[in-house]
Amino acid sequence: MNQATLHQLKVFEAAARHGSFTRAAEELFLTQPTVSMQIKQLTKSVGLPLFEQVGKRLFLTEAGEELFATCRQIFETIAQFEMTIANLKGLKQGQLRLAVITTAKYIIPRLLGPFCQLYPGIDISLKVTNHEGILDRMIANMDDLYIMSQVPDRLDISYEPFLENPLVVFAPANHPLAGEKNIPIERLADEPFIMREPGSGTRRAAQSLLDEHDVSVKVKLELGSNEAIKQAIAGGLGISILSRHTLLTDAHEFSILDVQHFPIKRTWYIAHPAGKQLSIVARTYYDYLLDAAKKIVEKEIAPLSIKVDLPSE
Ligand code: PGA
Repeated sequence: MNQATLHQLKVFEAAARHGSFTRAAEELFLTQPTVSMQIKQLTKSVGLPLFEQVGKRLFLTEAGEELFATCRQIFETIAQFEMTIANLKGLKQGQLRLAVITTAKYIIPRLLGPFCQLYPGIDISLKVTNHEGILDRMIANMDDLYIMSQVPDRLDISYEPFLENPLVVFAPANHPLAGEKNIPIERLADEPFIMREPGSGTRRAAQSLLDEHDVSVKVKLELGSNEAIKQAIAGGLGISILSRHTLLTDAHEFSILDVQHFPIKRTWYIAHPAGKQLSIVARTYYDYLLDAAKKIVEKEIAPLSIKVDLPSE
């Protein structure tokens, strides 16, 4: 293993986690041939095959599984070391890795502004993905903090409520039901419906309310992004259930239908795996987010104009 590099291990870890060279290449901004080459060299250093291809699927060999577990330990130890160094440097430098569900992307980047200005030395990475994606990242311990809507019981997670995330029925501004009061939920079955992708928390919450009332909607289109759904609604393709937060300056293009049992009440939580030690940077950002949320709720000010008190360095 003397010849193996950290970079090769990183490439291998991503390929093993995704079960795909292509997806590893996407994640690491590399080309697929580069990924194949790095893994080929690593395989040579190990002296045993790391992957085996069965049909179209890629599996880890026993040696691959062992190396995957070892990589996790190595990267965790490096992350711990980085955290120790960052803590020694205080808030002047460091890294903050955030992963947020798609609905939170309408608020979190705006809240990052004042934080970044005060701590310009901190590098921030923000990953936006759906509920399932957040869980995968959390299990793989890839980030410092997560914003998610539904915290699963099966995982040991520390979390705190952050802000409300109501789900409402979006329709085009000129929809015939716009302006009507107390629309029976059964009426949704008559409308062409646009649904989020499987793995989305919004989809799961919407589906569970519809199931509870025995309403079966006609799904005409399935889309993996809130913005794409909004464009489809504005284009007259149908209606959908989305987070109220996805409505920004484009509110004039949509109507929110007053349907019975809506809004679906959901909450965003700030979360991290229980027992994970937060760096000074992550802890400071955590407190900052809670403070920002309090100000949004209490003063009812738009996140755009939010001013929060930050600790000085
Ligand atoms: P998602 O996130 O629909 O992108 O998974 C929103 C949520 O879980 O509320």
